[in-house]
Amino acid sequence: MTDKVKAGIIGLGRLGRLYAQLIREKVKHVDLLAACSLSQEELAFAKSKLNIQYAYTDHRQIVNNHDIDALFIMSPPMHHAMHIIDAVNAGKHVFTTTPLATNVEDCNRVIEVVKNRPSQVTMVGFEHRYDDAYIKAKDMITKGNIGKPIFIQTSTFEKEQTDSYYKQYAPQSGGIFMELNIKNLDIIRWLTGKEIKSVYSSGGCYKHDIFERFQDADNVMSQIEMMDGTMASVTASRLAQDGFNTRTFVMGTEGSLEIQDHSPMEAIRIYDTDGIRIEVPQNYFERYELALIEQANDFIKCIMESRRSNSSIIDGLEATRAAVGMTKSFLLGSKVILRE
Ligand SMILES: NC(=O)c1ccc[n+]([C@@H]2O[C@H](COP(=O)([O-])OP(=O)(O)OC[C@H]3O[C@@H](n4cnc5c(N)ncnc54)[C@H](O)[C@@H]3O)[C@@H](O)[C@H]2O)c1
Repeated sequence: MTDKVKAGIIGLGRLGRLYAQLIREKVKHVDLLAACSLSQEELAFAKSKLNIQYAYTDHRQIVNNHDIDALFIMSPPMHHAMHIIDAVNAGKHVFTTTPLATNVEDCNRVIEVVKNRPSQVTMVGFEHRYDDAYIKAKDMITKGNIGKPIFIQTSTFEKEQTDSYYKQYAPQSGGIFMELNIKNLDIIRWLTGKEIKSVYSSGGCYKHDIFERFQDADNVMSQIEMMDGTMASVTASRLAQDGFNTRTFVMGTEGSLEIQDHSPMEAIRIYDTDGIRIEVPQNYFERYELALIEQANDFIKCIMESRRSNSSIIDGLEATRAAVGMTKSFLLGSKVILRE
């Protein structure tokens, strides 16, 4: 391999387009050469603004392009497993955004394929693992600074959108637990170093009845028990009025800590005719941009240094297992045991 990894991207939608720009402008030692999308408009953008050489509408064309060493997968969740399996089988290193897949069976199919390809890097996008505040908090917990964790509260609140937006997007989202809580589930596993034993979820459509059509919700809460007895509560809302945020609080036997939702823009106070205010991230990408850059840089470094990634497909599997369990619990109205 040369001093640059040659990469492609599958999916140029809300996330993929931003991600492609970030790879092009801010990630080191990578050339983004190829893109795949079902939309001609998105591919035209990739050619004109990102200097993409190869533009495809079928993922099999990009995975079989011999000029490409690595693929970033930013397609809708239900396609992730197929795209990852085909890419790994074609010899590519693979980074996928979350979820790894929308069901445990698909995650296991990915694991079977990856197991036979140990020299290829695979990585699942849990970017809080690259966020300065989360890294510091994890370090403090590991050193015992707050004693033994007793409970963790973690939430994701997303800015409210319109019903017409939800109509298009809800059928593909994987549901609120998969979509908004998948990172929270990894936060709990990563901070405690423990697996999830059981989940009990509730919620409903408090404002947008459209989600009922998809057996989904606009606000949910889950109570979680870890294998060592640590408790967690995980919440998600689609009704945030200010912007996007993820918050995490950890109560320990000797102290507690809160990881606040601070992006660089929140460090600035604005004084104007509206009074004193701060601006907040409007979406997930704005909140985690720096961590996403670090994470993508690390994916490329893992390839160049032939080492394993910091967020594996097993982490992807366990987060999906818990999100599936939460969806089941929400639909059944009862606790779901994930492991004894
Ligand atoms: N939007 C966010 O804030 C956000 C945040 C975190 C993770 N994600 C994840 O990112 C992924 C993409 O989400 P999005 O919001 O950008 O979706 P999107 O619907 O806006 O875009 C999907 C993209 O995938 C392409 N695509 C669809 N089916 C395809 C197929 N069969 N083959 C090749 N390309 C195909 C579409 O053409 C489009 O470019 C999802 O897995 C989502 O869970 C999104």
